[in-house]
Amino acid sequence: MHSFSKVIEGASFSPVSQTDIRYQPQQLICLDSSGYIARVIERTEADYATVKQAAQANDTLTTLQPGQYVLPGFIDLHIHAPQWPNAGLALDRPLNEWLDTYTFPLEAKYQDVDFAKTVYNNLVQELLANGTTTALYFGTIHNAANLALAKACIKYGQRGFIGKVAMDNPEQTPDYYQDASAQVAVDQTEQFIQQLNDLNQTTDLKQTPVITPRFVPSCTPASLQGLGDLARKYDLPVQSHCSESDWENGYALEHYHMRDADVLDQYGLLTDKAVMAHGTQLNEHDYELFSNQQVAIAHCPISNVYFGNAVLPVKRVLAHHIKTGLGTDISGGYSPSLYQNIRQAVMSSRLLQDGVDNQQSADQRGVVDSAISVKTAFYLATLGGAESLHLQTGKIAPGYLADLQVVSLQNDFHTETADNVFEKLMYQTTKNEIEQVYVRGKRVK
Ligand code: GUN
Ligand code: FE
Repeated sequence: MHSFSKVIEGASFSPVSQTDIRYQPQQLICLDSSGYIARVIERTEADYATVKQAAQANDTLTTLQPGQYVLPGFIDLHIHAPQWPNAGLALDRPLNEWLDTYTFPLEAKYQDVDFAKTVYNNLVQELLANGTTTALYFGTIHNAANLALAKACIKYGQRGFIGKVAMDNPEQTPDYYQDASAQVAVDQTEQFIQQLNDLNQTTDLKQTPVITPRFVPSCTPASLQGLGDLARKYDLPVQSHCSESDWENGYALEHYHMRDADVLDQYGLLTDKAVMAHGTQLNEHDYELFSNQQVAIAHCPISNVYFGNAVLPVKRVLAHHIKTGLGTDISGGYSPSLYQNIRQAVMSSRLLQDGVDNQQSADQRGVVDSAISVKTAFYLATLGGAESLHLQTGKIAPGYLADLQVVSLQNDFHTETADNVFEKLMYQTTKNEIEQVYVRGKRVK
């Protein structure tokens, strides 16, 4: 009989669509030796008992306690690793001032690789402890530090997508923190691709290099062009910020006489492997472009409260069949937890629907049909992010990567239905309740 490398017995919640979840009260989640879910065996299936016994005999069975639930690991679709020391700082400043006064001076410090190692080792462990099994990271301009981030991911067992940040526009970046030229920005990006490929020879948990123009204002046309060429040459993911705020949206209009998204598109950066953060100021024209070119949006609801100047209409975006996931945007967002971002996604969507100006009549105040459910927000944190990164994960089903978290429900009073349990898990889980985390079948918490 077939033996699995690990079998987890317990209850689970998994997304099945943008609006629905599936609850399984008891099943065997059977992992193979390459870190995928090979089978999910329901309590009623004929070989449940024999598979369980075999796993017990091989000492590969993990049985969950009542009150514990398996969920897919979360995917942070937009996070700035170097900004972790600033989480929560200066969020009252407008975006450009926040960048100049707080963010660029901190990022410049990653010239020092020891500093980078200290912060990145701490951050990767913190994210795993919060149930984040995959992260799409912005690094800094410094490749030695970016490599330290990749090594931290490998050391602690997280799937990282990592970008060397390109920012060569002397008018929008400080002398002490910029790529010396477009050529340098592009060459260093290509060097980082090679360095990661070399590092990947030493590990099963591959780290993926990402083409990372910081955003249109930070880059020159020449670097945007060169980075678009690299994305095509290596067929790699792309990440940037797009129409993130009134200021950023206005920058492209003023300097290129084009919309932000069209500028990125003109340089070949809006591919089906592109993930654009925020997009709070995208219009219908941009949605069409994203939809046609299969560009994903990383929705960062906490960050958007501070810098977005609007609420991303998630429901409208999904109706355009635009791939959408969830990001923390550390440190535009203060929290490393995707649970917190799930909550904020729901709350912001409700404010969008009802509106916020109490001097307006109810029918004038908001945008009808904008509220999303917590199930939709859960979808964003799991399957939505996985699709954006072309990863077979985010769902508990055969053929999917075994990226999982086991969470416990503490407040178990008056919890009558599976939906009650699910809602409490989404609203109340802190890292204390996240008891086990697996990436590619390997236990990392
Ligand atoms: N736009 C360009 N850089 C950044 C950044 O570091 N954070 C956020 N939120 N937006 C940006
Ligand atoms: Fe960001």
